Amino acid sequence: MSGKHQIKVLPSGLVLQVDEGETVYEALLRNNVPIAVVCGGKGVCGKCGMRVLKGVSSPPTVKEEKWAQVLGGDVRLACQVRMLSDGVIELNQAAATAKAKILTWGQEVKTEVDPAVTRREVLLPTPSLEDQRADLERLLQAVGVQSYDGYLLRKLSDCLWGSKFDVEAVLYDGELIDVRPKVPKAGVYGIAFDIGTTTIVGYLYDLESGKLVSVRSSYNDQIRYGEDVISRIEFASKGQENTSKMQDAVVGTINNIIADLLKTANIDKDDVYDIVCAGNTIMASFLLGSSCYHSSRTPYIPPFTSPVRVKARDLHLNSNPSGYLKTLPSISAYVGGDLVADILVSEIYKHEGPVALVDLGTNGEVIVKTEDDFMATSC
Ligand code: FES
Repeated sequence: MSGKHQIKVLPSGLVLQVDEGETVYEALLRNNVPIAVVCGGKGVCGKCGMRVLKGVSSPPTVKEEKWAQVLGGDVRLACQVRMLSDGVIELNQAAATAKAKILTWGQEVKTEVDPAVTRREVLLPTPSLEDQRADLERLLQAVGVQSYDGYLLRKLSDCLWGSKFDVEAVLYDGELIDVRPKVPKAGVYGIAFDIGTTTIVGYLYDLESGKLVSVRSSYNDQIRYGEDVISRIEFASKGQENTSKMQDAVVGTINNIIADLLKTANIDKDDVYDIVCAGNTIMASFLLGSSCYHSSRTPYIPPFTSPVRVKARDLHLNSNPSGYLKTLPSISAYVGGDLVADILVSEIYKHEGPVALVDLGTNGEVIVKTEDDFMATSC
């Protein structure tokens, strides 16, 4: 009874392989089976309850014996139990599914549209023996910029020659990031993401009109590694492989939401040039692949608090590869860009006298503005 074992997981009926020495929880994670837990596999939350219906399993651990008094005698913890033979297990419903309503609406604040992304129509002089400038230099001079993304060289010549040098240039803060044929109705779009510990909401905007085109949401796939930020930090701190899993989970969720938004609005992914993310400091750090180990221990130092900008292709995002993803600035390890967004949108700084702003989520934040100071805390 050693080596690998096959187990059938109910209620889904999925059959998966459990490696020698691996807990059922680890096998579920490795096979991308969703499981809603809080403690990230430490035997503390009791959320990973399951039953062994068939097969031989390891004897209950001390933690399981404690939880059996609460959950019932035959309930095991997936994060503790190891299968010693082939078998059948049944996850409890709370662990197998986690359904809740995601808040995606709110009061819209009128604001002036000033996008980082702009586009410009350019009709270039056609090359000749008298004008032998290269394609790139010809385009840069016509657009009047020097900064460009070298990635566009992959398509530049085909686009210019195929469009008879009558094209559209796309710029991001003055950097030439794309050249494309003039296609009627092709726009430039951006997506604002609210990256919560539990849920992620994406808002697709037309960057020229400022109009909201579509909204989609999903659970943050990181839930499988723990429901709260501390559990996730513990998981990610176990090594680079786990930190990468945390990043892959949030990027995967973002990409699924983008695909959903684009399908609904019938928009091409290459027309999405800007992605802005507001989230707590830990979520922003995981998104960019940082380990947050030192955020959870005194003196609570986060990997970064400045706004960070990376090329979409560096994160394998489902958008134009030359566009950018940027995060809002954070304030400290536990007061993040989501609260900065709250402050900006609520304009709490314009209010006189003591006033409080409360952001209720899996992690809650409170900010109090006195006459001459701001104080913030989170839990
Ligand atoms: S008790 Fe198993 S994941 Fe929390």
